[in-house]
Formats: sequence, structure tokens, C-alpha cells
Amino acid sequence: MIHFNSSVSSPLYLSHLQELNADYSNYRNKIFSQRSLSILANRYPKSDLFLCSSATDALEMVALMLNIQVGDEIIMPSFTFVSTANAFVSHGATPVFIDVDPETGSIDASLLVQALSEKTKAVVLMHYLGICPNISQFQSFCQEHQLYLIEDAAMGFGNEIDGRSLGSIGDFGVVSFDITKQLSAVQGGLLLVNNKSFQQRAKQIYHIGTNRDAFEQGEKPYYEWVDVGSKFQMNELNAAFLYDQLTQQDELLSTRTKMIRLYYDQLVQLEEEGFLRILLSTHMNEAVHGFVIVLPSPQIRFTLMSFLKENQIEAMFHYIPLHSSEMGRKCGRFIGGNRTDELATTILRLPVHLNLTHAQVLRVCEVIHSFFKKAVDDETSGE
Ligand SMILES: Cc1ncc(COP(=O)(O)O)c(C=O)c1O
Repeated sequence: MIHFNSSVSSPLYLSHLQELNADYSNYRNKIFSQRSLSILANRYPKSDLFLCSSATDALEMVALMLNIQVGDEIIMPSFTFVSTANAFVSHGATPVFIDVDPETGSIDASLLVQALSEKTKAVVLMHYLGICPNISQFQSFCQEHQLYLIEDAAMGFGNEIDGRSLGSIGDFGVVSFDITKQLSAVQGGLLLVNNKSFQQRAKQIYHIGTNRDAFEQGEKPYYEWVDVGSKFQMNELNAAFLYDQLTQQDELLSTRTKMIRLYYDQLVQLEEEGFLRILLSTHMNEAVHGFVIVLPSPQIRFTLMSFLKENQIEAMFHYIPLHSSEMGRKCGRFIGGNRTDELATTILRLPVHLNLTHAQVLRVCEVIHSFFKKAVDDETSGE
């Protein structure tokens, strides 16, 4: 079976654990979080960085920092993961879902004005597959209307636009280090606080609503409860795993990019012949999160997915639209037409992970070619 995802290996994890366990102070001083943060600071030099237990948690920190209240409106995609919405909805905000831009998988910037109201507080921009070619349009819109821009760069580790890493451009950014992502802590996330006016609060919220950070810096004789917050910090076992991945990040990212490029080279002919569309095909040399094709109809997607399964290949759909979900219908409103539904019912994600071999990628592509060849043969023979 060619699996869609796989476990991630961490050659030095066990020796890191030994080092960690050698002394209790290593846990207290969070040695692997600190080492990971110093590597991450090279990629995000202007952001305040907080390692969290997930990107979901990082988004929840953003909602606390913004004091989200009942009645606030947050503009966000419908085509995204539930965490993007939950963070704000759990504080009583109304999600204003925007239709997708089918070329990028992110929100359609031309619909922002229609979504705006005097209650709008922020825009959450999700970078689908970790790519955002038109972020400047969102920045100008937010500046013009005095809204916060939150980048959901869960899939964006390793990608930049105009020399700036995704996640470090808006007021806040989040990155995921889940096991499915470009780099993994098995489970983990990163919050980037780019708007300096939130620097102080972020530290308090991160430390369960206390001024522990000031205490650790020697600025306070003890720490106490000063704000709301929760235990958002990444645990050291995950940080040790992440550290190992970060020390190999260039190699890991480039292996992934080569794999995606191989898919592209093998399948571009089918795109030219009109059998499928390769999403974000002009970004195949970047650290794209995955390889995604769009089929001409839900029926073709279904039959191709079944055909791949018969051939022992796991392929996946993505994001069930939030606006029409049970919860989305209850708490949000939607701006747009049917492009989110169209994309969600025709998209297919092919296996991409670091244990996938060159030969397996070729095998997946060969099966896809044979699927379309058979369809053409059946049509010519009148079946
Ligand atoms: C767009 C998006 N945002 C947020 C998340 C949540 O990330 P995590 O699993 O690290 O909480 C995901 C997870 O896949 C995601 O796809």
C-alpha cells in the first residue's frame, strides 16, 4: 500500500531524550524549546516566537490577545480546517466565510469588501499548501480598514514571499508542526507575534495568565496571576523531536520539493491535455505542503480515488467547507457562490511524505495515466 502520510523519523530523538532526562533543570529551562527557538529566529528574525502545543492553540492565543467578544466579526475562509474558525467562535465571534479563489485555494480577495461591516475585527488568511501569491492585497485591505491580519500558515513552513517568511507578515501568524506538515514535532505549533503592541500580553497569555516571563527575566521577585491564559507551551518531548527536524530542515524541505516536482513533471502532460488541473502549479519549486490535483467533476474524482485504492494507493480529499457544515450554518454567514463546494468536491491530494520513494511516486503517476488512458479508450470504443 502506498500511504498518504507516514510516521516521521527522528534519528537523534533518543539521544536528545537522554540529555533531557539527565537533569531536571533541563526540563525547567526548556533546553530543546530554547534551541529550537534560536534556529527559528533565523527564519523569523522580526517576530516574537512562541512554541505551542499545536497551531490550534496558537490561534486560540491570538483570539485571547484580540479580546474577541460576542458580536465581533472575523473574515475567514470556508475552505479551511476547523481550528481557523473555532478559536474565534468559542469567544462568541461570528465567522464571515468567504468563497475560495480556485487558483490558489485561499480566500478570494475580491470578496473582502462585501464581507466587511462595522463589527469586523480581523481577517484570517489561510495559505493553502503554504503558498500566498497575493498577500499584499490582504495587507492593504486590512490597513485601509484598520483590521488585524492573521496568517494561518499552518502549512507554510519554509515558504517566503518577497523575501519574508509566511506567518511573519500579518499582525500574527501561526505555523503547524503536526506530523502531517513539512516539519514536525509530532504535534506542535508556532505563534508569531509580529505586531509589537501585543508583545507583553502574548507572554502573559502563554504563561497561563501570569507574569512568569518577567519573573524569569529577573524583573519580578515572584510571579502571579495577571491576565487570562492557558498552558499553551509545547512540551519538551515534542520540542526535542522538533529540534532534530530543525537541524535537518534544508534537507527535509528539499526532499519534499523534489518529490512534488517529480509529480509535476510526470503529470503536467495530463494537465496540458485537459484531464486535470495541478493546483498552484507555478510554485512547484517552493516548499509546497502537498501535491494537489483538481478533477473536472466530483464523479471523476470519486472514480479516480477508487481506482487508486484498487491499486493500493491512498489519496485524500480536503476540507469539508465550513460555511455549510452543521456548526458553520449555526454561527456564521457566507459571502460568495459555489466555488468552495466545487473545489472541495473535485480536489484530490496525492501521497507526499518523506518515506515515499522515487519509484512509488512514479507508480502513483503511472496509475493516474492509465486511469485516463482507459477512460479515453472506453469512450472511443463507445463503452
Ligand atoms: C489551515 C489549518 N489551520 C490550522 C490547522 C491546525 O493545526 P494543528 O494540527 O497544528 O493544530 C490545520 C491543520 O491541519 C490547518 O490545515
